[in-house]
Amino acid sequence: MSQRVLVTAGASGIGREIVQAFAANGAKVFVCDIDAPALDSLVKDLPDVMTKVCDISKREDIEQMVAFGVDALGGLDVLVNNAGIAGPTAPIEEIDPNDWEKVVQINLNGTFNVTRLAIPHLKKSNAGVIINMSSVAGRFGYASRSPYSTTKWGLIGFTKTLSIELGEYGIRANAILPGAVEGARIQKVFEGRAQLSGQTVEEVRQDSMANQSIKRLVDPRDIAALAVFLASDYGKSISGQMLPIDNDMQKAS
Ligand SMILES: NC(=O)c1ccc[n+]([C@@H]2O[C@H](COP(=O)([O-])OP(=O)(O)OC[C@H]3O[C@@H](n4cnc5c(N)ncnc54)[C@H](O)[C@@H]3O)[C@@H](O)[C@H]2O)c1
Repeated sequence: MSQRVLVTAGASGIGREIVQAFAANGAKVFVCDIDAPALDSLVKDLPDVMTKVCDISKREDIEQMVAFGVDALGGLDVLVNNAGIAGPTAPIEEIDPNDWEKVVQINLNGTFNVTRLAIPHLKKSNAGVIINMSSVAGRFGYASRSPYSTTKWGLIGFTKTLSIELGEYGIRANAILPGAVEGARIQKVFEGRAQLSGQTVEEVRQDSMANQSIKRLVDPRDIAALAVFLASDYGKSISGQMLPIDNDMQKAS
């Protein structure tokens, strides 16, 4: 039987690569996202993928989405908690508490709410899997990005606890910790830094790799391949782990 996979925030970016990779591997995939046009465009490319608009910051949206998704898939084997926002860039004392709460609401509360509703369905699977998308910011402190770093570390505690609680049900939980990933999001960060510093975007891009052994950005398709591997039978002995995929970063920057 094909794996039944739910990916949150999978209409674009890394999530979309994950959706594509699972679909290419023969899985049945259900995707939610806040962006309806992006979901429409995903379905144009991958007509078998099922979708629903859902704001991961809203509990009622999540309740409807998980019920709808599990019904559409006919059960659930793999949950990929990919949804996460970058949040503000500022020193802690200058962060607007509303901005802080928004990051916590999506990155942590949203992940908790999707997961708690998915668990009863994963327990019915022969091999349930949870993958949480953390970050290199969940391995190091990250100056001026405290809400992001705090929530990404929070996901590590969540993952390790899920692994302990759910092991007896044959459910594995792991976290993927990407470094700087090639794509629109990092490009925007580089452009912002270039504007502030007066450097060119290319100079900022080179500087951003100073703290990593391998001087390139992470290919999002490699993250997707890691997710597919972790969810596969080859990953059956891996649980409660944090898996960095970051060209060996020594510092979050
Ligand atoms: N891009 C990177 O360099 C990088 C590095 C490390 C970790 N990550 C993590 O990987 C995950 C995906 O990152 P990305 O860069 O692909 O993200 P992205 O900013 O490209 O967004 C991906 C999707 O999230 C959706 N989304 C935003 N807010 C939402 C909400 N409230 N409810 C539902 N969907 C929502 C967007 O519509 C979009 O389709 C995140 O958890 C992020 O923190 C990204």
